[in-house]
Amino acid sequence: MLRVALAYSGGLDTTVAIKWLEEKYGAEVITVTVDVGQEENFKEIEEKAYRSGAVKHVFIDAKKRFAEEYVSGAVMANALYEGVYPLSSALSRPLIAEEVAKVALREGCEAVAHGCTGKGNDQLRFDTTFSAVAPELKIIAPVREWNMNRDDEIEYALQHGLPVNPRKSRFSVDENLWGRSIEAAELEDPWTEPPEEAFKLVRPIRETPDKPAELTIRFEEGVPRSLNGETLELVDLIKRLNKIGGEHGFGVLDHIEDRVVGIKSREVYEAPAALILVTAHMDLEKMVLGRRFLSFKRDVDKLWAELVYEGLWFNPLKKALDAFILESQRGLTGEVRLRLYKGRLAILGRRAEKPLYAKEMITYSRESLFDQKAGEGFSRIWSIETYLAALVEKKRREDIKAS
Ligand code: ARG
Repeated sequence: MLRVALAYSGGLDTTVAIKWLEEKYGAEVITVTVDVGQEENFKEIEEKAYRSGAVKHVFIDAKKRFAEEYVSGAVMANALYEGVYPLSSALSRPLIAEEVAKVALREGCEAVAHGCTGKGNDQLRFDTTFSAVAPELKIIAPVREWNMNRDDEIEYALQHGLPVNPRKSRFSVDENLWGRSIEAAELEDPWTEPPEEAFKLVRPIRETPDKPAELTIRFEEGVPRSLNGETLELVDLIKRLNKIGGEHGFGVLDHIEDRVVGIKSREVYEAPAALILVTAHMDLEKMVLGRRFLSFKRDVDKLWAELVYEGLWFNPLKKALDAFILESQRGLTGEVRLRLYKGRLAILGRRAEKPLYAKEMITYSRESLFDQKAGEGFSRIWSIETYLAALVEKKRREDIKAS
């Protein structure tokens, strides 16, 4: 009998998948639920798995690993796909897939399975991770194979007496510590404004406090370590920022996203902590890194975000970028001060332990240590290329006139 480890979220797709794997492959299904900070009732998910026919259920709390190994990397890389999306779902997939593969190997399974569709990015993230971690296992993706839509799935679930609740939400939601993505229903019309009930973390502006919140975030070697003077585990720091940001109406994103398969998707996210931390971290980098270093790093950051988005977490190129990014963060210790108010985030100040910023140089006061006389020669040489080009141009005009 085929033994399969299935990445199980408790949602419609994966619940239907349990039964379908049993029917189609005669499989014994081991469900694996990985906690990456989604607010779910994991006891209920376990019961649901057994009621749908799982022979065994495994729960893994991976919140700490997710924060320390995945989210901290994203902060150091200022990871924003297409300049906006902090990669919440994308970052969690390699970790979830790895945990599922480990269970599969431990439990003597011949296959792993996931509930991703054939037109999304998540399938790539799962499949590449499986092929990196356990290439000997067969990969089954029921949703891709059966080509059912949401309505077919609901019908199948009802026919087979599966414990699904199609009326729970009309949206397709994916959630973890780093953010929440909301898709489907009326959001598929890019002209329609997301309704308030789509959101869970971020309050509408009219319900936000009239008193602003001020935050001081301390980074150590690029990783956020404390909030308003209190040292916190990264998991707790992120949870707090999600709460404070959300209360002040900050952290919603709505954009047209380019999927790897080539189609565009209207994506709505809530990610207060991610957006606060990346904004603060980028600001601190400007205090510490030189001009060329910064511009090169911005290119590396962009590539890093693209690779992670595209499911290439285990690709050697991504590993090489990690090495550069880690090296770049050695001087990244310092603090950033911010204010949250009525849906807006403002940076109020920053200080670093090893800043390249030197007030003695930039000051307009008498104390300035900058020798302005040196500017004269520098500026003359700086002008040479432009001067020569202008000369050539002038000469050309004179030649034309003379002819
Ligand atoms: N578009 C986002 C991404 O590709 C979100 C995906 C959310 N996944 C989901 N199964 N609902 O990262």
